[in-house]
Amino acid sequence: MASILRVDHIGYSYLGRIPALVDFSLELEEGRIYALIGANGTGKSTLLQLMGGLIHPSQGGVYFRDQEVCETSLEDPAFRRLFRGAVGFLFQDPDVQLFCPTVLDELLFGPLQLGVDEAEARERARAVMQLLALAGLQDRPSYMLSGGEKKKTALGAILTMNPQLLLLDEPTNGLDPRTQHFLIELITGLNQAGKTVVISTHDLQLVEALQPRVAVLSEEHRLERLGEADEILHDEQLLLKANLIYQPFRRSR
Ligand SMILES: Nc1ncnc2c1ncn2[C@@H]1O[C@H](COP(=O)(O)OP(=O)(O)OP(=O)(O)O)[C@@H](O)[C@H]1O
Ligand SMILES: [Mg+2]
Repeated sequence: MASILRVDHIGYSYLGRIPALVDFSLELEEGRIYALIGANGTGKSTLLQLMGGLIHPSQGGVYFRDQEVCETSLEDPAFRRLFRGAVGFLFQDPDVQLFCPTVLDELLFGPLQLGVDEAEARERARAVMQLLALAGLQDRPSYMLSGGEKKKTALGAILTMNPQLLLLDEPTNGLDPRTQHFLIELITGLNQAGKTVVISTHDLQLVEALQPRVAVLSEEHRLERLGEADEILHDEQLLLKANLIYQPFRRSR
């Protein structure tokens, strides 16, 4: 399978001194689902933002179909349009993402920016609102939505762009069980339609349900292991070491 995106020996520190990722390499094959799992602060959100070209590594490189994603390449309008149209990004905190006056405007913004004509953009928005049960909320501003409704709106804003690669940071967080289940079905359906999906999560049940290829991040901000879901989920030592499961201290009698 062809690679859609590759991070090659990347390093990233905030303010030049807070390490977030160290010598990290990962290649995403087109049409697969990936899960980034790791304890708090291991670098999952940072890795997704590097993959999405929202920030750039201080060492190594990010490549989209073998073209480097960096400040210079994104200054080229043709590459920027290609890359921004192909990659959808869901932030861990939807408040960072939502800025339009209404839910409907959020859904229309991406396709209109990409040059989709208005009738087609409205049709996509209508279909996505129906899919995500957002129709009743279309005229509301985001500050009048619940956390889960904001998350669905932010996800809808990506879906109307119809990207090839979806980068979803903790997509099920804050969603009720029915909506979580719906999201699992949605991700599976998108993947069956050929999309590549990367999620970050601590939720091992989500990993079990999606059966993705799994990258485990260590507390040293490195790639601890890359493997198939079943292999990772059955490796108790690995999960304990990565602080993904916790064995409370047992008092001896
Ligand atoms: N804006 C920032 N400024 C400074 N340091 C940051 C910033 N964002 C993240 N960090 C630090 O970078 C490291 C990686 O953070 P990141 O948000 O990528 O982790 P994460 O795996 O997504 O964690 P979580 O599971 O809590 O979402 C952490 O040590 C964190 O404190
Ligand atoms: Mg995070």
